[in-house]
Amino acid sequence: MDSPFKDDALKGKVALLTGGGSGIGFEISTQFGKHGASIAIMGRRRQALDAAVSALASLGIPAIGFEGDVRKPEDARRVVESTFQHYGRIDILVNAAAGNFLVSAEDLSPNGFRTVMDIDSVGTFTMCHEVLKYLKKGGPGRTSSSGGVILNISATLHYTASWYQIHVSAAKAAVDATTRNLALEWGTDYDIRVNGIAPGPISDTPGMSKLVPEEITNKSMDHMTLYKLGEKWDIAMAAVYLASDAGKYVNGSILPVDGGHWLSRPRHLPKDAVKQLSRAIEKKSRTAPVGLPKSKL
Ligand code: COA
Repeated sequence: MDSPFKDDALKGKVALLTGGGSGIGFEISTQFGKHGASIAIMGRRRQALDAAVSALASLGIPAIGFEGDVRKPEDARRVVESTFQHYGRIDILVNAAAGNFLVSAEDLSPNGFRTVMDIDSVGTFTMCHEVLKYLKKGGPGRTSSSGGVILNISATLHYTASWYQIHVSAAKAAVDATTRNLALEWGTDYDIRVNGIAPGPISDTPGMSKLVPEEITNKSMDHMTLYKLGEKWDIAMAAVYLASDAGKYVNGSILPVDGGHWLSRPRHLPKDAVKQLSRAIEKKSRTAPVGLPKSKL
């Protein structure tokens, strides 16, 4: 689908994306590039990085890949500095790197819990911390009078509770808290906008194939009234909006992009029955004698 945004919405910007070589992160890289940005991707696998960079290059998008693990502060520092050395500026950081697997709380080891916290929550904070000096208003390489933009990708899992996702729910809750707190502190002090996107179930992503393996896809749909898969494009468009001037007054927001899926719950009455039942109950309540209060208080 074509983008509704102008081709030059991100012209001249440099975006660094963790996890930008696959899934949602790669689609954001692609759409940022199509809207004029130059791309740096950080990822753990050289092969995946090379494939992503050549796919971007084939679209005419300036791109470079840096190997690194967001769990290692020295990698975070090196990649941020290499991005600056390569392009001479950094305008946007997208934290899309994440770890996930299905496991019951009972079977999850504390180290398994910590591993996902380390990738998603601590990794996000580490990257933000390293990039601060480049994104702040007046920082090295900044040509505009404003600060840069941070986008943190979280989820909607922790809005309620999610089966077999205690580690990711906790990690994404921390990511959202990080987004809001940085928006407050760095929005005030450095004119940096920090926002989040909370994707719902998105087709054709590593996350989806881990969380809803093919075998159970149909069953899930039966139980979730608003269940409709989104596309990576949907998340990327939200990212273009938040990263571009279209979102210039948006700071500290976490935008769920899930088709309303997290609001899903089973309907306890058919729609036709509601009208009749509700009228009947109302009629009964109006004709019922008003009794004396039974409370002894
Ligand atoms: N069920 C239960 N525990 C699991 C698990 C699973 N499916 N997969 C990993 N773990 C536990 C391990 O047992 C280990 O804990 P232990 O030391 O107490 O045994 C801990 O998690 C770390 O596992 P390890 O394989 O050493 O971590 P890793 O750093 O190699 O990999 C993961 C990190 C596990 C998050 C891996 O899935 C990953 O790299 N994911 C990135 C890609 C991804 O998940 N994308 C989806 C994004 S939504």
